[in-house]
Amino acid sequence: MFTLSFAFKTSNRDTSNYLRHFLSINHKEKSMRKITPEEKFKNARAKKVLSAPVIDMERLLYDSKENEKLYEALVNAGFLYLSNHGIDKNLIQEIKRVSAEFYHLPASKRKELEDFKGNLIHDGSAFSLSPFAKSIEKDANIDIEYVDSLFYKYIGEITNLALRLVSFFEIALGLEKGRLLNRVEPHGVQNALCYERTPPKKWGVPGHYDNGFLTILMQDDAGGLQAMSKDEWFSIPPVKDTFVVNFGNMLEHISYGVVTATWHNVRNTSAPLRWSWPTFFGKWFLHIFY
Ligand SMILES: [Fe+2]
Repeated sequence: MFTLSFAFKTSNRDTSNYLRHFLSINHKEKSMRKITPEEKFKNARAKKVLSAPVIDMERLLYDSKENEKLYEALVNAGFLYLSNHGIDKNLIQEIKRVSAEFYHLPASKRKELEDFKGNLIHDGSAFSLSPFAKSIEKDANIDIEYVDSLFYKYIGEITNLALRLVSFFEIALGLEKGRLLNRVEPHGVQNALCYERTPPKKWGVPGHYDNGFLTILMQDDAGGLQAMSKDEWFSIPPVKDTFVVNFGNMLEHISYGVVTATWHNVRNTSAPLRWSWPTFFGKWFLHIFY
């Protein structure tokens, strides 16, 4: 897998500590929760499509039925699609274009981003991993400052979207204003991930819970995301002009298990390359033990 990764912040807190903390969370910590052993799902393949609710952000403002759908997504489905989210389509297209171009750059060029002191902190994973052997290196004329500023803009918009969404979580769950919102901080990690086709009996990404508060995922048309529901794997196919949202362990903890984190994996079996752009929103652990 090829990763282009940024840490971000939208307040004055030192994000580098957060990033170190976020990246130190490993699968051993996740396994402290009682989960079905991974081995059980080693060759798991989704046969059904998860009927995750499509939540219309605009309708949430005035339609109580949309709120009920959101409740259903939070409490039962574990995943939702977000439509009418308000993120500029041109910005989305540009993120996709630049990610693909960046992936093809020679390592020396990619290293320039690592050293670039811009708005974002670059964790170096785009540089420690080699692009796939079959990839073609093109000396595209990418302006590193532009890559940084483009992702910064995208992250800013996704962060605003996440905060709006969390305020609707409070309404859907019948919580007082700020109960969740005051506990999620706009710090996180933005990835641009590229997967090769997953070989038979292998994973693109093995089954796991996201450890953060929530994840907003933009994915391409390749598909391959799978989620576990009631001991069964379901595929979560791309739906045009939507983001996929799933809930992490922190939200499950804060909500006393009312919202459950969803076990999921990635297996790209349909396209030579699969791209996804997850934005992970976390929380300072010290703040959640209130
Ligand atoms: Fe995940």
